[in-house]
Amino acid sequence: MKNKNLLLTIVALVAVVVGGIFLTNQKNDKKPQVEGETVRVGVLQFVTHEALDEIYRGIQDGLAEEGYKGDKIKIDFMNAEGDQGKIATMSKQLVSNGNQVLVGIATPAAQGLANATSDLPVVMGAITDPVGAKLVKSLEQPGANVTGVACPEPIAQQLDLIKKMMPNAKTLGVLYSSNEDNSKLNVERFTELAEKEGYTVLAYPVPSSNEIAATMSVMTSKVDAIWIPQDNTIASAFKTVVASNKEAKVPIFPSADTMVKEGGLASVVVSQHGLGISTGKMVAKILKGAKPAETSVDVVDQGTPIINKKVAAELGITIPEDVEKAAGEIVE
Ligand code: TRP
Repeated sequence: MKNKNLLLTIVALVAVVVGGIFLTNQKNDKKPQVEGETVRVGVLQFVTHEALDEIYRGIQDGLAEEGYKGDKIKIDFMNAEGDQGKIATMSKQLVSNGNQVLVGIATPAAQGLANATSDLPVVMGAITDPVGAKLVKSLEQPGANVTGVACPEPIAQQLDLIKKMMPNAKTLGVLYSSNEDNSKLNVERFTELAEKEGYTVLAYPVPSSNEIAATMSVMTSKVDAIWIPQDNTIASAFKTVVASNKEAKVPIFPSADTMVKEGGLASVVVSQHGLGISTGKMVAKILKGAKPAETSVDVVDQGTPIINKKVAAELGITIPEDVEKAAGEIVE
């Protein structure tokens, strides 16, 4: 008798504990992903350029690493080709297409998605300044349906590299688009720091890629070096930037490895593919039930130097030995 009672008590206790765990899980995870189910992820890329293409490849690789590959995932991909009107319509489509999580690659795309929904989770792919772009309340506690990966330029390291490679430079030109929040904010940060270190900074905002060639011909006659932030308009027309510098041969320090490979001189950068992988993993986390409001933004800002030796030779610049040694990547 005694034993039977004890057994009943134990069974009852176990039932309460297991039931409790089950209920708590249910509460934290309203729509848990069912094993074997195909998840649907909508992706909006702002424009085509090498860096964003690389980020998209990284996102797919990051998702695959977390098991979302083959028939486990259906990606609904759209590219707005730099068109604000398309951002709005595509964002609406991605919201109504039955996707579980949305991803915005570059600031204007993430802003479009965030405007289109206040409940579907939106993951930011490689956003320079999520707070400045009003995408999240704070990096630690995003507060609503948006979280993701931030990649502020490692400005201090970049400036340090300019100083080491061009010890006599006094005037720095900055080329960026006047329509991108991501650039405006970081141009301010760069200007403040460079001026503090004694440089004269001349800013050259362009309203669109159509003005790049004319702007370059003016700016190259006035500056010793050119710095470029992670600007989508400039990145998508980087060939024009390089072509318009053929005669003047002013060293260009752009904020992405892809632009250094396409003819920039050097920079300190984070890997675009790596940014994509981090974004893909964040999407996986959200698919598994994490809430964007409480999932802190992943900030990737530890840069590695990259130098284009071919460009250095063309410009007649000798790379200091310690700079070459510290480089994570050398483009020959
Ligand atoms: N950070 C940019 C944004 O917020 C997007 C971006 C990521 C980018 N990597 C880049 C732009 C490289 C130009 C070059 O919109």
